[in-house]
Amino acid sequence: MSKVNDLYVIGNHTELKDTLRQQISESFNLLEVSINDFKKIHAQIIIVANQDDSTVDLVQSALAEFPSASVVCVNGVEDFDLLRSLNRLGVTDFYVIPGEELILKERLEELAQDYARRDLSINESEGFKRGGGKVFAFYSGSGGTGKSLISATYAQTLKLESTGKVLFIDLNLQYGGAETYLGIESNRTIIDLLPVINELGEHHIRNVSERESHSELNVLISPKDAEMAEKITEDFVLRLIRASKRNFDFIVIDLPNWMDEKTLMALEESDRIYYVMDVNTVSMRVLKSVESLFTRLGINTKEKLEVVINMKSKDTELTKKDLERFVSYPVAAEIRRDYKNIQAKINHGEPLRKEPKEKKLTPFSKDIHKWVNSMLK
Ligand SMILES: Nc1ncnc2c1ncn2[C@@H]1O[C@H](COP(=O)(O)OP(=O)(O)O)[C@@H](O)[C@H]1O
Ligand SMILES: [Mg+2]
Repeated sequence: MSKVNDLYVIGNHTELKDTLRQQISESFNLLEVSINDFKKIHAQIIIVANQDDSTVDLVQSALAEFPSASVVCVNGVEDFDLLRSLNRLGVTDFYVIPGEELILKERLEELAQDYARRDLSINESEGFKRGGGKVFAFYSGSGGTGKSLISATYAQTLKLESTGKVLFIDLNLQYGGAETYLGIESNRTIIDLLPVINELGEHHIRNVSERESHSELNVLISPKDAEMAEKITEDFVLRLIRASKRNFDFIVIDLPNWMDEKTLMALEESDRIYYVMDVNTVSMRVLKSVESLFTRLGINTKEKLEVVINMKSKDTELTKKDLERFVSYPVAAEIRRDYKNIQAKINHGEPLRKEPKEKKLTPFSKDIHKWVNSMLK
């Protein structure tokens, strides 16, 4: 595992690399690598010292391999075309050396400190350290199973109980819904990202997202409009998720229960799919047909699908054991039915969670709390 003051340098420009070594090797450990070494390293800060047509490709490969890394470009001359292309990839750190070594050094120190903080705050689990933000998509073949309420509360709990940066994205583009569960009213929606989608950076996402007032969770709200929903393409979804991964630790996505290119894209890009269902014969049959749909679409369910049992109660028709006999997916959590408490909060326009380490959690919130904590450990 690399230390945060390890800076990986790629690129073909010997003179630039020499200057770098003279200027910053006192404060940082400079490691020269080539694209072929990418698989062997875990880079957090990459300096691109390159000066020909291959720069953009090089940056793109670095971002693809290390989505959470910061890429800093150095160049011998001002190059606005290059700068613009880099901006489009979300890279804004561009320095001309010699000349700007001082601000370059300051920026690198700032980035290194950022990573040191993040390393301390995010749990030790390997899975969550590598490759930037983790994407959790909530899906189900049926409506009304609790996807929106559970995903919203899950995201809120993650934000309250960890120090990670958490983003909630409502991809129910036609109907929305999650904002009601979070007590948010807003005119800003995901649609506002359309004009900047090709150069999406953290500040865009932060500007357009709402902050849930208790947890400070960042929320991208659905336009709740069929016509607007049409304007969002699968390419938009891909870019949004990739940019989110670069800038957040956890990305929670609430999906509609129909399958289209956008849903498919989100499912493909996610690290884990939580399939929300209550356990009865009908929902098991739906799960089976979703499973065969996923197989046809080439979505690898074996590695990333986990079942979330909702509406658990004494009088449910079937149990977790019955489900486990029927499918091979792990059960990530069981969540109790809790109409009274949930309805009261929703009617007051209040989110289910309000502060960290709350004492009196209702059964629903308690079950989600337990699940999130076990995952963070
Ligand atoms: N565990 C639960 N106990 C009681 N009511 C629930 C539970 N989970 C969800 N609900 C309720 O079920 C309804 C549908 O939930 P929702 O999250 O909107 O479903 P989906 O997004 O899957 O269509 C909502 O009114 C919600 O409050
Ligand atoms: Mg929903």
